[in-house]
Amino acid sequence: MNINLVGINYSTAPLAIREKAAIGTGEVENALNLLGSLTPHGVIISTCNRTEVFTISTDNENETANGLKFLKNCLNVSDDVLHQHIYTLERSAAVEHLFRMASGLDSMIIGEYEILGQVKQALEAAEKVRMVDLPLRHIFQSAIRTGRRAREETGISKNALSVSSVAVDLAAKAVGNLKNSKMLVIGAGEAGRLVAKAARDRGISQIVVASRTQERASSLTSVLGGTAISLDDAAQEMHNCNIVVTCANAPHSLLTVSQLKAIKQSRSRLPLVIIDIAVPRNVEPEVAQLEGVFLYNIDDLYSINKKNRRQRESEIKKTESIIAEEMAKFAVWWRNHKIRPLVRAMMSKAERIRYSQMERTMKKMPSLSDEDRYRLEKMTRAIITRILKDPINIIKTNGLTDDNFTETLKELFQLSEVDK
Ligand SMILES: NC(=O)c1ccc[n+]([C@@H]2O[C@H](COP(=O)([O-])OP(=O)(O)OC[C@H]3O[C@@H](n4cnc5c(N)ncnc54)[C@H](OP(=O)(O)O)[C@@H]3O)[C@@H](O)[C@H]2O)c1
Repeated sequence: MNINLVGINYSTAPLAIREKAAIGTGEVENALNLLGSLTPHGVIISTCNRTEVFTISTDNENETANGLKFLKNCLNVSDDVLHQHIYTLERSAAVEHLFRMASGLDSMIIGEYEILGQVKQALEAAEKVRMVDLPLRHIFQSAIRTGRRAREETGISKNALSVSSVAVDLAAKAVGNLKNSKMLVIGAGEAGRLVAKAARDRGISQIVVASRTQERASSLTSVLGGTAISLDDAAQEMHNCNIVVTCANAPHSLLTVSQLKAIKQSRSRLPLVIIDIAVPRNVEPEVAQLEGVFLYNIDDLYSINKKNRRQRESEIKKTESIIAEEMAKFAVWWRNHKIRPLVRAMMSKAERIRYSQMERTMKKMPSLSDEDRYRLEKMTRAIITRILKDPINIIKTNGLTDDNFTETLKELFQLSEVDK
């Protein structure tokens, strides 16, 4: 049995490809059902930075085949394009990747907090549709513990940035001064909340939050301040704003070239800065061609992150030590988990032999007292425990070094019923 990962992320694929594989909150269950038609156990993590599929394969299966089929289906691209942008990892490399991800080391914004919550949500979603078996659950729970430790024991997330807060920094840079600015935030989920909070903390003059469901925008502005509007009124509101940040979980464009052209015509000559951090994008990329409109997307934030990475270099090393500790703990658990079926089979075979021999003997000794029968039972049990003690200890210490070793043991002890 093995753990496998197939993924696509911000460092292997441009936004135009990545957004095809993005799975929004409302689509996760369907995506898991699709994965479930290929393999019984799997977890999907889809964020603005990545879409990754973790699966479990048996020793005889092609390890990454199911994850690959799933991503190919999402991306709907040729094999050439697929292999240009995806990565596959197996066994401990896949686990270590997950531990790094949960710790914030694999994010575009190193040390960001959001990824830990996203890893937890991915596990919960897969649990809901019963796609998590014991090894997957243990791997994800260990990753979550590693992520928590990284944040508690190192400064990796001290004054952490988020994609949303970096977007606000970029907006501030683009307009010069947030204090005289009016920002429209389209999307009132976690990303929208972080954008509104960062804008408020940096002293924005006015903020308007638009959401498809206006109540969601209202509950955000009731805490953070600003005005809530419905998505239908967002275009009208753009006449009065100089910054728009889009972060709605829509599978299609919410701002089109024709809409923006119409808005530009009736708007003052003031430049309009649009930062689209949604994946898939909320704004048609051709909007960037319009005069007076400055469009940025999530990949434009990457250069800002380079400085963030440099500042956290020493904390990255400390976080890597925690990951190494957790990987060592995980290796012990995995080894014990893998040997469990074999050890169980050896013990139950020995117990079956002991029991049938005892029954035969008892038939020949009908006058044996209960006390003597109890002593005999105890003695025969002690014999099988003593005989199996050394081989089991050796297996526990060395693990199942390879499939040949397992096969040899199965043959030696004639174990046909070892479950995988
Ligand atoms: N979470 C992060 O930290 C983060 C960071 C960077 C980028 N992003 C990107 O930002 C986007 C939102 O992420 P999130 O975590 O905030 O997700 P989320 O909580 O699911 O976002 C919900 C928002 O999206 C709106 N929405 C959902 N489906 C829509 C549709 N079909 N048409 C119009 N609006 C729709 C919701 O409207 P209702 O009011 O109707 O529910 C709500 O305002 C995603 O593309 C994500 O990749 C997220």
